Amino acid sequence: MKLSKEQSEQFDRDGYLFFPSLFTPEEVRVLLNEVPALYAQRRAENVREKGSDAVRTNFAAHMYNRQFAKLARHPRMVEPIRQLFGEAVYMHQFKVNGKMAFDGDVWQWHQDYGTWKNDDQMPEPRAMNVAIFLGEVNEFNGPLMLIPGSHKLGMLDAQHDTATTSYPLWTINHDSIRKLIERGGIVAPKGPAGSMILFHSCLVHGSNCNLSPWDRINVYLSLCAVSNHIRRFKRPEYIAHRDFTPIECLPDDCLVKDYDVPLPWKDGTPEEALKPLAA
Ligand code: SIN
Ligand code: MN
Repeated sequence: MKLSKEQSEQFDRDGYLFFPSLFTPEEVRVLLNEVPALYAQRRAENVREKGSDAVRTNFAAHMYNRQFAKLARHPRMVEPIRQLFGEAVYMHQFKVNGKMAFDGDVWQWHQDYGTWKNDDQMPEPRAMNVAIFLGEVNEFNGPLMLIPGSHKLGMLDAQHDTATTSYPLWTINHDSIRKLIERGGIVAPKGPAGSMILFHSCLVHGSNCNLSPWDRINVYLSLCAVSNHIRRFKRPEYIAHRDFTPIECLPDDCLVKDYDVPLPWKDGTPEEALKPLAA
């Protein structure tokens, strides 16, 4: 998939692009069918909500689940990113976020690059975020909220919040958020399962809790330009990957056909990937 000149300009201006129904219902079903078994596993990669058994985020499924391993190599997702960076990319982070009905908690306002710089020493914001909806995202189930144009300000001051939710995050203070929203407003792309958002790693975003009876399950893939790989391994490898091999795409029909993919963590995550390598 190739971005048009208009789409590249829009990305540069707004910091995101929305592709409603980019994946078909059949392709999405293949992935969604895997989620209950993925979330049922008792492994470090499943981070549960504070005070609940509901999974907030599952890490690195592409290392041990065949269908998600195929998604990680999907040309409809990888090619636009390679085009925007003009070089090969590797998978920095892979999450299946289950903002589950009634239990799904907030994601405070943040930029992903804040964490990648502070924790992982990623040199530049040359990594891209992708959200793929595995179910409908509507106004009630905690859609991702974006502040258009906020990526233009580069990396903003952030504080490490280890208390609000079960997952520590570098978050942006309310005064800055107020100013950013006065300037850019808020958008919350909503749509059917199979829709995709591509967004800049400095774009400020967050989401509300899910008070609705509908799960909001999004896959978040973060792809980094190979030359911009992280320099510090302070976080476990299942959160910030240390293998900088360029992604090789599978054919466009990979989700509905059989293709061979490596599944190195199929029988468990290796000890060294579960812990930091450096302080
Ligand atoms: C994230 O920013 O990584 C997750 C946001 C969300 O799931 O709404
Ligand atoms: Mn984020």
